[in-house]
Amino acid sequence: MGKAEHRPGGGLMEFTPQQAATLAEIMLWRRDVRHFLADPVPEEVLERLRLAMDHTPSVGNARPWRVIRVESPNLRAAVRAEFERCNQNAAASYEGEQAAAYTKLKLAGLDAAPVQLAVFTETDPEAGHRLGRATMELTLQQSTAMAIFALWLTARAENLGVGAVSILEPRVMERLFRVPERWEFSAYLCIGKPAFTDDTPLLHRAEWQRNEETVWERR
Ligand SMILES: Cc1cc2nc3c(=O)[nH]c(=O)nc-3n(C[C@H](O)[C@H](O)[C@H](O)COP(=O)(O)O)c2cc1C
Repeated sequence: MGKAEHRPGGGLMEFTPQQAATLAEIMLWRRDVRHFLADPVPEEVLERLRLAMDHTPSVGNARPWRVIRVESPNLRAAVRAEFERCNQNAAASYEGEQAAAYTKLKLAGLDAAPVQLAVFTETDPEAGHRLGRATMELTLQQSTAMAIFALWLTARAENLGVGAVSILEPRVMERLFRVPERWEFSAYLCIGKPAFTDDTPLLHRAEWQRNEETVWERR
């Protein structure tokens, strides 16, 4: 067993209130970042982001996320072009003031983010032996979303920003990266040093969509 081996009767890991407060701060100051500085991200920091994905829960422990680090200028340009195409289509689906407001939003940091990841989900992995997903196929994509969020929080703790880009056509992305048949596109991530930090989402500030509180209904 590894170093996190469970020892009955001992080895209980406890965190201090101060550590819990730090996590709350990380949550509060985590943003979707679209404005990046060009500073490169050290490899050892990227390695910690990769490890964060390893520590993510996943259905049946299947770990279905597949990650491609996108470095080729040609691939990056193709992703940017695909984003522009999808973003123009999205803009055309709004009318009047909403259309004008949409066009003013910056919805991706593809122009400047020094690190870019294309994230896919393997839709029929051998790993996990189908445990937990017979009734909910969606759990594979949910697992990938959790791995992305683990990376997202870890990046914030490293004073980096992450921006998720979904204004892309999945089938186009799968063709562009020539991924195996059973991989489904999940997200494209932009990572780097943020140009500024904020405790409030950009879409709230831009008055596109206000923050709403999460409600826990009692029944
Ligand atoms: C699955 C997913 C896809 C997203 N896609 C985009 C996107 O394409 N472009 C964008 O600007 N933001 C995108 N976002 C970011 C959301 O707009 C953002 O999380 C939300 O407005 C709240 O802001 P915050 O993350 O700063 O708290 C995405 C977020 C998620 C979780």
